[in-house]
Amino acid sequence: MAELLIGVDVGTTGTKAVLVDPSGRVAARATHEYPLHTPRPGWAEQDPHDWWRATVAAIRDVLAAAGASPEEVHGLGLSGQQHGSVFLDKDGKVLREALLWCDQRTAAQCDSIHQTVGFDKVVEETLNPVLTGFQAPKIVWLSDNEPEVYERLRMILLPKDYVRYRLTGEFATEVSDAAGTSLLNVGKRQWSEVMVRGLGLTMDMLPEVYESPEASAAICETAARETGLRVGMPIAGGGGDNACSAVGNGVIEEGTVQVSVGTSGTVFAPMLEPKMDPKLRVHTFCHAVPGQWHAMGVMLMAGGSLRWFRDELCAEEKAEAERRGADPYEIITAKAAAASIGSEGLIFLPYLTGERTPHADPNARGVFMGIGLRHTKAHMARAIMEGVCYGLRDSLEILREMDLPIEEVRNTGGGSRSKFWRQMQSDVFRTPLVAMEIDEGAAFGAALLGGVAGGVWPDVPAACAATVRTEEPVKPNRKASAIYNKYYPTYRGLYRSLNRHFARVAGVVGKLT
Ligand code: XUL
Repeated sequence: MAELLIGVDVGTTGTKAVLVDPSGRVAARATHEYPLHTPRPGWAEQDPHDWWRATVAAIRDVLAAAGASPEEVHGLGLSGQQHGSVFLDKDGKVLREALLWCDQRTAAQCDSIHQTVGFDKVVEETLNPVLTGFQAPKIVWLSDNEPEVYERLRMILLPKDYVRYRLTGEFATEVSDAAGTSLLNVGKRQWSEVMVRGLGLTMDMLPEVYESPEASAAICETAARETGLRVGMPIAGGGGDNACSAVGNGVIEEGTVQVSVGTSGTVFAPMLEPKMDPKLRVHTFCHAVPGQWHAMGVMLMAGGSLRWFRDELCAEEKAEAERRGADPYEIITAKAAAASIGSEGLIFLPYLTGERTPHADPNARGVFMGIGLRHTKAHMARAIMEGVCYGLRDSLEILREMDLPIEEVRNTGGGSRSKFWRQMQSDVFRTPLVAMEIDEGAAFGAALLGGVAGGVWPDVPAACAATVRTEEPVKPNRKASAIYNKYYPTYRGLYRSLNRHFARVAGVVGKLT
């Protein structure tokens, strides 16, 4: 009988499940998508029931595809989009749609938390400022704007922890995701009394906190019936999607850094101590490896910028893709590759839903700077890809300023599947970039955490040693690096020239919508 593990990643566009064996071979994978709702500018919401339906379907699919019996599955790990808020009533029923990590409605609530608790105290406890994407200001927003819903609020969960609740009937979370709530004492890896009381909450409104590879709960009877899994199978704490990807890519030591291009773009550096950027531009969160933390720069719309371009401006490319049975991104990327390095001076700022690193600004917006008559859609596609690389470089530069070692950069996420974009990243960062042999993203790391919880490996390093393999690195091209290096200062300077305009325009838009 085979020994198998399941990893589930509750993402922004869909939920993915993978079935993995102890050598790291992926026996099956399945993804089920769901919509993201933007009822007002800057808002981003999802229905937690959609996450559950997609999880059930994805688990059923991988079991069926591999012909695996429930007895063969030894553990399950959960990963998920970070920071979202699931609000439950006394019966565990969802009170309203969840506010997501890229939702920007809570600027006033961030200010009010800083004032009530004291900015320095917030940073001392949580090692970060409260930012609009984080969970705590979403709770205050609910109290300020939907008091009748807030009155019925009894439990607050992160996205993947709602799925855990449906799988097990237990309320639990783990340190890597809880670090992004603004309610965790990140240094001590436990809820912060100061923050919880400061927000007028009580500890019983928050789930139990575990370490990521610990067994947190087990599959309950109802979930076993729905998913086909075995009653009593252990579920690991799991992790936020970035920490889970890091585990799945073996980014579990200082010096090995992960650059991920998914909907968001992140730069993730493991740390043995919870160090902070003195200017607070990158986050300091707990790693999914016990005893480790990480510094992380987050761009909100990396792959998300190219997806916007595909969906809003590339009907022609989509139609061609359908005719040829290809992926529209392949056609868009081929066009981008035909434009010259640096897009003939066309520079794109990828701040479509505001930004976090290096400019924590909910009002920032996307910009094409320098359009000329010679520019075509190909240049625009290339400029978007280049803008994302410049934005990721901003985070790498901050890690360098913090004196964090950067010995090897590992590349992951949907964006790393394109060789062209991976080479561009290497050229812009001026570092070699290592690709992963298995790049199944956060779901794979979640499966490894599930394996530790299920007793397949003693700890996370052993799980990584058994399963993670890298490919030959992509090396920077000197000529391209030199050209990108000439444009990068302009990219960096543009935000500063525009930020007051972003604020003014946001004020006008706010009044008109
Ligand atoms: C990290 C963040 C995003 C989401 C995407 O802080 O907000 O990377 O986790 O799923």
